Amino acid sequence: MQVEEYFKSLYNLINATLFDYLAINDTDYQTVADAMQYSVEIGGKRIRPILALEFCKMCGGNISDALPFACALEMIHTYSLVHDDLPAMDNDDYRRGKESCHKKFGEANAILAGDALLTYAFQIASDAGVSDHTIVKCTRALSNYAGIYGMVGGQTLDLENEESTDITVERLEETDKLKTGALIRCACELGCNAAMANNEQFEAAKVYAENLGLAFQIIDDILDVTGDTETLGKEVGSDAQNGKATYVTLLGLDGAKARAEELTNNALKALEVFDNNENLIYFTKQLLARNK
Ligand code: IPE
Ligand code: IPE
Ligand code: MG
Ligand code: MG
Ligand code: MG
Repeated sequence: MQVEEYFKSLYNLINATLFDYLAINDTDYQTVADAMQYSVEIGGKRIRPILALEFCKMCGGNISDALPFACALEMIHTYSLVHDDLPAMDNDDYRRGKESCHKKFGEANAILAGDALLTYAFQIASDAGVSDHTIVKCTRALSNYAGIYGMVGGQTLDLENEESTDITVERLEETDKLKTGALIRCACELGCNAAMANNEQFEAAKVYAENLGLAFQIIDDILDVTGDTETLGKEVGSDAQNGKATYVTLLGLDGAKARAEELTNNALKALEVFDNNENLIYFTKQLLARNK
C-alpha cells in the first residue's frame, strides 16, 4: 500500500471508531452530547491517535489493541481545544473549519462538552478489551499527561506568560513541552504500552515525542503568522491578538523554522532503533512541511 493510502486508512479507522463512541442519540441531555459530537466530528488531523497506532505497530503490537486508547486521547485533545477557544482563554471563534464549540452551543455547553469528553475518555480506556495491566498503564499515562503534570499545567503557564514581558526561549520550551508536548508524548507511550514494548523502544519513543512535540508547537506558532485561515481551519493572528510570546516573536520566522527543523531531525534520529520505521519517517517529515 502506498504510504498516503496507509495513513488515510488509519485516519478512517480512527474516525469510524470515534464516531461510534460518540453516537450518543435521543438522550434527555442531547445538547451536550451534540456539542461533543460536533467538536470531534467537524475535523482535526488526528495526529495523536495516528502516532499511538503507529508506535503500537512499530513495536510489534496489534493496532486494534491501541485503538480505544488512541480515541480516548483524541477526545482529551478535542476537549483541550474546546476549552482553549473559550473567551476566558484564547477567545477564538473558529476551529477545525467551523464555528468553535462555544460559538455554536454557548459557553456553558462548551464547558460541559469539554468536561464530558475528558471523562468519557477514561470510560473508554477502562473498557478497552486488553489486559488489566495495559489498561492501568494507559489510564495512568492519559491522566498524567492530560492533567496538572501535563497539558493543563502547560496551559496554566501559557496563560501566565501573557502577563509577562520578558519570556525567554527556555520558558517557552517549558510551557510547550507541557501544553502540546505532553499529549504527543502520551500518544507515543500509549502505542508502546499497547504493544508491550521493550525498554529501548520506550526510550526511543520518549526522545522522538519530546522533539516532535516542540517542533509541532513551533510550526503551530509559525502558521498562526504565515498560514491561511481557510486551510488552517482556525483564525490566524490569534497569538498576536492575545499578546502571546511565541517562537516567532522570540526567534523570528527563520529562526523558528530552523529550530523546528533541528527538532524534527532529532525526532527522526530517534526512530533509527525501529526496524519498520519508513511510514513514521514519512509522517514526521510531513508534519514539518504541513500548512494546516
Ligand atoms: C492544535 O492541535 C493545538 C496544538 C496543540 C498546537 P492540532 O494541530 O493537532 O489540531 P487538530 O486536532 O488538527 O484540529
Ligand atoms: C493550545 O495551543 C494547546 C492546547 C493545549 C489546546 P494554541 O492555543 O496555540 O492552539 P491553537 O493554535 O488554538 O490550536
Ligand atoms: Mg492556547
Ligand atoms: Mg488557542
Ligand atoms: Mg496556536
